[in-house]
Amino acid sequence: MKDSFIQVKHLTKVFPGGDGEVRALGDVSFCVKKGSFATILGPSGSGKTTLFNILACLDVPSSGSVRIGETETTALNDRQRTLFRRNVIGIVFQFYNLLADMTAIENIRLGSKVKGDCLDENDVAKRLGITHLLNRFPHQLSGGQQQKVAIARALVKNPDIILCDEPTSALDSSSTSDFLDIIKASNKEFGKTVLLITHNADVANCANQKIVLKDGQIEACI
Ligand SMILES: Nc1ncnc2c1ncn2[C@@H]1O[C@H](COP(=O)(O)OP(=O)(O)OP(=O)(O)O)[C@@H](O)[C@H]1O
Ligand SMILES: [Mg+2]
Repeated sequence: MKDSFIQVKHLTKVFPGGDGEVRALGDVSFCVKKGSFATILGPSGSGKTTLFNILACLDVPSSGSVRIGETETTALNDRQRTLFRRNVIGIVFQFYNLLADMTAIENIRLGSKVKGDCLDENDVAKRLGITHLLNRFPHQLSGGQQQKVAIARALVKNPDIILCDEPTSALDSSSTSDFLDIIKASNKEFGKTVLLITHNADVANCANQKIVLKDGQIEACI
């Protein structure tokens, strides 16, 4: 597709295992346009996190390719992949992954240290409504508040793409709704391409593209 920003072609991932190989992804191909809000759906074990890790440049496929913008990320070496991830991708994990011995603002600054054209951390914190929490450590924050800090950390480095792996699965409905507002704003106002794994129907319904995986293959892409 001409205007696609993320292009996944014939991706496979086979994990070696004691009791035989696991084919986590088998010939997965799809495209995501720039500025899209896309979700990856599918039952447990269908390959969502495996796909996420490859898109996030945290893992490499067994075969196939991923192109993000002009870069074929699956052709990069380890060091280039790390640099690409730092510069282009903001990652939000299910369990926040904040550093426990750093305050919220110090965690957020970790995002802004990585490259030049960062957003102002105080502006981002204000937009996310967490200004009053910035001097607290992660253990002094609720799950929803920690997730907002994690989103702020991903946003300040001004990435082209935000990738999230089940970001709301540990949140209650009110925090999930806050999260959705923030991610929609990241998509619409900050212009980020968002790709998000979710089991939550409300979250999935906000997306303009749904990529459904089943047994490591694309079941639907709508
Ligand atoms: N490092 C690994 N080594 C071996 N097998 C793996 C590894 N990681 C994942 N798998 C297997 O690959 C398949 C897909 O796993 P994956 O974590 O991608 O699923 P998922 O769709 O994210 O599931 P969930 O919704 O439970 O998070 C599963 O059968 C899993 O057991
Ligand atoms: Mg998973």
